[in-house]
This record gives sequence, structure tokens and C-alpha cells, in this order.
Amino acid sequence: MKFSRTACLKGEIAVPGDKSISHRSVMLGALAEGTTQIRGFLSGADCLSTIACFSEMGISIEQKEDLVLVHGNGLRGLKKPAKVLDCGNSGTTTRLISGILAAQEFDVTLTGDASIQKRPMKRIIEPLSQMGARIESLAGNGCAPLHITGTALRGIHYHTPVASAQVKSAILLAGLYAQGETAVTEPYVSRNHTELMLSAFGADIRTQGTTARVYPGRPLRAQAVTVPGDISSAAFFIAAALIVPGSEILIKSVGVNPTRDGILRVCRSMGADVTLLNRTDGPGEPTADLLVRSGSLKGCVIEGALIPTLIDELPVIAVLACFADGETVIRDAAELKVKESNRIAAMTEGLRAMGADAAETEDGMIIRGGQPLHGAVIDSRNDHRIAMSFAVASLAADGETTIRDADCVDISYPEFYADLRRLTRS
Ligand code: S3P
Repeated sequence: MKFSRTACLKGEIAVPGDKSISHRSVMLGALAEGTTQIRGFLSGADCLSTIACFSEMGISIEQKEDLVLVHGNGLRGLKKPAKVLDCGNSGTTTRLISGILAAQEFDVTLTGDASIQKRPMKRIIEPLSQMGARIESLAGNGCAPLHITGTALRGIHYHTPVASAQVKSAILLAGLYAQGETAVTEPYVSRNHTELMLSAFGADIRTQGTTARVYPGRPLRAQAVTVPGDISSAAFFIAAALIVPGSEILIKSVGVNPTRDGILRVCRSMGADVTLLNRTDGPGEPTADLLVRSGSLKGCVIEGALIPTLIDELPVIAVLACFADGETVIRDAAELKVKESNRIAAMTEGLRAMGADAAETEDGMIIRGGQPLHGAVIDSRNDHRIAMSFAVASLAADGETTIRDADCVDISYPEFYADLRRLTRS
């Protein structure tokens, strides 16, 4: 797909529902008693993989216009699937579902696409095995396909080496079935959607600092869930409006949970003009409208506890950094190498092809802003966030940019290019 410079971005947009929250609403809905109603569900390929897996396990799920109904069967109501569960490209599906499957009374094999079969699963196999789970990586490489034989679990207190909501969530979901307390302590707090939603569904879940604890014994009760707009999708429009001079856009109803809002803090450090309007605060997930106006940006350092709060936004933050004065340093972000692609390599190589001064480091990137960008041929590596990041970069670059396998955006944002076209002015 081809892209070129735009004069500016103007107008209003509502981004699709949050991917992380959409996954969790189907999972908890399936394990709850009663019918969970989900509004604002993200119908991207990843979340559809989660629906397919639970449908395969006997859960009736109705997808209507703007409503998904999940007819839950209770914590013990899943059935052995007739075939291998296919998690597609979705790390969230693979890891979270493993925590649930570890405690069922049947065995199951789950797998996914070529990318999923390379992503590290030892990070969940290790703690779940400590709880008593029986999980085998069929290729013996610590990756999917995984064969999981459900069994009785016991609670543990696990200290995760990396801040990962997928790991934390897999353990907490297994903890719903385990004997005694299950606790997870992270080096920094990762997104807390599982904790918030478990609490809303009636589970006994408590959090303090970087530790979350869950206790078994309470049934989950169906809920009405409203999924806020995905800040990770909004990030592409935030960046586009900031780097294309003369732009002003309003992004409606975006989730601004503090465990996800790192991009807003980076915008502040860079001196960007982003204003939060109509903020709604809890219970549950806070939202706000984001008013974004272009302007000058300055480089900044992004590290430590901030990293998990913007982990999926780092590719597009790298694009922003190319348009900031001075140096932007991203460190403590080695996790980017084990996402849908190696996002450090994908971004630094692609940005350099466009003329940027971008260097790869062990655990991040160093970008010196101010070099004018020009069009190039970019390999998306079939990674949705890489494709969208370069589509944004191309809007402020000379000449034409070609993005290969651009349709991989279907994973999280099927309408992305149409929405981007609606906002751009020639
Ligand atoms: C997610 C957590 C993050 C994120 C992913 C979605 C989730 O992964 O990158 O896109 O829904 O829990 P990690 O928890 O592995 O960092």
C-alpha cells in the first residue's frame, strides 16, 4: 500500500475498542454465570481469535451490530474442544487462555500463526508449572504449540522478572481455580485490566503496589462491559497530528487508565499540545477525549516504570522522536524484541531507510530528531503496529512510502487506513 505527505489532519474520530479489555471481557464473560453484554468490543482478528477459542469450548457468543453477548457457563462450564485451539497472531489469547486451561478437567492443544510459534511461552509455563500445571511445548522450544493437561492447581507467590500483564493475568486466572492465595509481584505495574475486571465480575482480588492477589471460591457474575477506545490505536492519530504542521484533531472516548497512559506523559515531556477533555473517572476504566494540536517537540528519555505503560506505543513514539529537537533515548524496553515482530529492529531499520538518525541499542533505541524523512519501501514484518507507525511517518515525509503487507492492521484496527484518510487533508 502506498502513502504520501498530507497537508494536515483535521476533524474528530472515535477509535475502536481497547484490545486488551475486549479479550478479557470475552474470557471473564465465558467463565461467569449469566450473559455478559459487551459494548464497544474490538472486532479485530486478535479478539476474534479469543471468541473462536471459547466458542470451540462450548460457549455461546453472539456478535451483533454494536453488542457482543457472551453466555457464560460458570468457572467449571468449559468443554473439551473438538480440535486444536487456534490463537492466530494473539499473544494475549495464547497466554491468558493457558492460565484458564491449566485448571480444566480436560486436555487441549493450542497454537497460532508463525509469529506466535516463535514468541516466548516459558514465561507462563514456568509459573503455571509451579502451581502444578502440566504444559508441554510440543516443539520443545518453549513456544506454541502447547499441550495443556488440566489439573488441580495450588496458589503461589510469583515474582515476575519482567513487567508483563499477559504473564500476570495468566497466573491470576489460574489462581481463580487454585488452592489458597495466588499472588504476583512485578518489577513495575503492568496494565491492570484483568484486576479491574475480575473485581467487577465479583472475584476476590486485591492489589497493593506492584502485587496482585487472588483468592478462589467466589463465582464470577455476568456484567455489562463498555470497552473504552484503545489508547494504543489512538496513539497513531496523536502522533500524526503532532508531526504534521497545522493539524488539530479530537479523539473521542479514549481509555486513559494510568497503567496505559504513558504516551500522554511522553507527550507532556516532549512539550506536545495534548489536552484531556470530558474525563470520566471510575469505577472501572477512566476515559477522556483527547484534543491534539501540532507544534514543536523536544526529545526526552523514556525508561523504567514508564515502559510498561506505553510498551505498544513505542514504535509510533519512535516516529514522533524523529520530529523532535534533540535526542530521544528509549531504554529498558528489550521486551519490544519479542512482540509480534522485533520492534526495535523493525523501527530503526525502517526509519533509517526513510532518512532518520535512529540507532538500535540492547534494550531500546536512540533517535536524533530533525533529519527530514523521505519515502521508502517498508517491510511491516506482518506486524500491525509497525505498519501503522510507518503510515504515520509517511504523512510527514517527502515522496512516496510503500508499506508491504499493510493489511496486517486487521489484527487490531481493520478500519485504520479509512479512518486515517478521513482525517487527512490534501
Ligand atoms: C497485553 C499486554 C502487553 C501488550 C500486549 C497486550 C495484554 O504484553 O504488549 O499487546 O492485553 O495483556 P505484555 O504483557 O507481554 O508486555
